[in-house]
Amino acid sequence: MDSQFWIERWSNKQIGFHQPTVNAYLRRFWPALQIPRAATVFVPLCGKSVDMRWLHEQGHRVLGVEVARIAVAEFFQESALEPQVTVMHPFERWQADDYTLLCGDFFDLSVDQLAEVAAVFDRAALVALPEATRKRYVAKLDAVLPQHVQTLLVGLTYPPEHMAGPPFSVSEAEVLELYSPRDVERLADVDVIDHSDTARFRERGVTRMSEQVYRIG
Ligand SMILES: C[S@@+](CC[C@H](N)C(=O)[O-])C[C@H]1O[C@@H](n2cnc3c(N)ncnc32)[C@H](O)[C@@H]1O
Repeated sequence: MDSQFWIERWSNKQIGFHQPTVNAYLRRFWPALQIPRAATVFVPLCGKSVDMRWLHEQGHRVLGVEVARIAVAEFFQESALEPQVTVMHPFERWQADDYTLLCGDFFDLSVDQLAEVAAVFDRAALVALPEATRKRYVAKLDAVLPQHVQTLLVGLTYPPEHMAGPPFSVSEAEVLELYSPRDVERLADVDVIDHSDTARFRERGVTRMSEQVYRIG
């Protein structure tokens, strides 16, 4: 599941993960993090998520990283923004109106690029990655983010034998282990198997599915 896999998904418009509306957990739980208005929020593996628009509406600066150029271009197009595109090797930096999207590989990020980040919103990023890559992902976040950055994480669990990911089932035990020794608080655990947007997983044989929301301090 390398970058090419995702770039092809975007080229073939296989983007069932993209939500047309703002994530309900983001709306509900973000205020509890009490992130100052002008703070920068990092959205890893951001796609063209409309959650970034909601974060921007709260007054935040938004910094995303996304490997698929199509996703980045569509985000700005659908937001009716004309970005300035510059090279910030090995990334392309797309910027408009307090949004900065770095187009390139998350694993190439460096400390200076994330120096201003005060909080992270992870929806469909951790769970998009296979197990070994999840360890690298959290280790990379830990290595490049400033200390004491709060994270709102939306997780997903289902019987792993029901479907080959992505998205992958990531248990609470794994989240605790990945983020140890940080404080991990589960804010919600919601059965979503009957929801309309999980129909695509029921078609793939999944009969149980729930979403978890964590605040990681
Ligand atoms: C499941 S999608 C979720 C997108 C977004 N978070 C959302 O909620 O719609 C995962 C995204 O991560 C991107 N991606 C995967 N691996 C990446 C990497 N190593 N660096 C940057 N982006 C990556 C994919 O292109 C895809 O858009």
